[in-house]
Amino acid sequence: MDILTNIEDSVMKFSSKRDKLKKKAIGQFFTPKEISQYMSSLIQLNMKKVKILDPGAGNGILACSLLCEILNNDFIEEIHVDLYENDMEVFELLEKSLDQIQKLYKKSRKKLTYHLIMKDFILTNLTRWNDDNFKGMYNIIIANPPYMKLRKNNSEYQGMSNIVFGQPNIYFLFMAMSIKLLEAQGQFVFITPKSYLTGLYFTKFREWLVKEVDIEKFCIFESRKTPFNKEKIVQETIIIKGKKSKFQTELVEITNIDNNLKNHVSKPIFVHNKIIFDKTKNCYIKVPTTREEYNALNFISKWPKTLNTAGFKVSTGKVVDFRNKDNIVNEFEITDLKVPLIWNVNLKNGKFTWPVKYKNKYQIMKLHGENKNTIINSNYLLIKRFTSKEESRRIQIAPYKKEMLNTKLIGIENHINYLYKVNEELSQSELLGLFIIFNSKIVDSYFRVLSSSTQVNANELNFMNFPEVRDIINIGKMGEKYKLLTDEVCDGILLEYF
Ligand SMILES: C[S@@+](CC[C@H](N)C(=O)[O-])C[C@H]1O[C@@H](n2cnc3c(N)ncnc32)[C@H](O)[C@@H]1O
Repeated sequence: MDILTNIEDSVMKFSSKRDKLKKKAIGQFFTPKEISQYMSSLIQLNMKKVKILDPGAGNGILACSLLCEILNNDFIEEIHVDLYENDMEVFELLEKSLDQIQKLYKKSRKKLTYHLIMKDFILTNLTRWNDDNFKGMYNIIIANPPYMKLRKNNSEYQGMSNIVFGQPNIYFLFMAMSIKLLEAQGQFVFITPKSYLTGLYFTKFREWLVKEVDIEKFCIFESRKTPFNKEKIVQETIIIKGKKSKFQTELVEITNIDNNLKNHVSKPIFVHNKIIFDKTKNCYIKVPTTREEYNALNFISKWPKTLNTAGFKVSTGKVVDFRNKDNIVNEFEITDLKVPLIWNVNLKNGKFTWPVKYKNKYQIMKLHGENKNTIINSNYLLIKRFTSKEESRRIQIAPYKKEMLNTKLIGIENHINYLYKVNEELSQSELLGLFIIFNSKIVDSYFRVLSSSTQVNANELNFMNFPEVRDIINIGKMGEKYKLLTDEVCDGILLEYF
């Protein structure tokens, strides 16, 4: 059995016996051998001496894969590796892994030294994080950082608060700290959840990241379950490869990897950095995963506004059903004190219907003096917040016209977003134009790139690229001549107009 298979086998045995809750609490799941080898193969090894870091090393599979790769490399003569791991139980495996690798090195002409550091990686390096003159100490970082949410005011990691915005997760603090410890031009390869690319809580981290590093490559897994299926992790995962540099590579490579990691699914796509790195408020990193998404991104990146700056806004329905149990009733008669409540079930196949007969979905909300959860009956584009994984479209919508319900106020349940114009009512042409935009496959594909989860968040919609109001009106007018506005027809209208 080869050494890496051996290392992998022992950690899988360890992992299967381990309490799941304990693993979750310390963000511990292990990288399969094939992924470790793939990540190692991304690093250019063209120096004589090299200093490597593996923070959160677990059993050391990542550093060991890289060390195996280096054994076959003609340039490198001297290697030092620092491995941080603060879990005593896995530490024993780490010692054994490095011991086995050292035996191999002893048979070669290369010199390997290593330091196993049983300490908290972040706390140990906080002084360096806060030192503006610190120039870095490693040439290569290879890491699968722990994944877990931290308390908002986690006092231990307060030192890194300059990159925290809202709820921190330890994995991006590991990425940031590792990059801080890299020398200029030093290389990094991380496997992490995808959420940092567009998630709201990662905004400050992204702002920092794009200034510090040159991102050369992203590798995306074709299936959501693939990379850590032995560990039963379903987080969407991504590999990022880059180097520490103030200059961004013009064309960023995006590679799709298949389930067995043996083949690339398709040819890599090379995307211009201006398309990937969005310099607007949320500093999104937009990584298309398919040719369709790439084309959509290219198309929509030319739109000059964001939905907000074009004068529109998306908000989330304010009525939370379980907080209003006593007020939501299964009645159909609208009065001054009983307003229609709009749920997911009222949106189907691009159309709005109310009331609908649906078990446990009550139609009317009773008002008690205060109407803070209701909104004025006006024209809105309704957008579902949640769609199931099986559904082909992420964005599901229905235009709502105020004459559809004879009422002054309406209630919108919390699983629905509604789009409106900030200073005035949406006109019929605007509503139709918005429907065409959001019903197109182009925008659906674009939104998949933009969204950090399977939810359709108001925040992500508000910051998406958007055309000018006059374009929306013109598109609406073009749509008037069609009886049926399928997604293909909507694509056709957008392609013809822009
Ligand atoms: C996601 S696992 C990855 C392990 C290994 N690198 C791999 O790829 O299989 C992250 C590891 O980081 C360790 N860890 C968690 N918090 C840490 C900390 N603050 N300092 C050092 N190690 C930590 C966990 O015990 C766990 O073994």
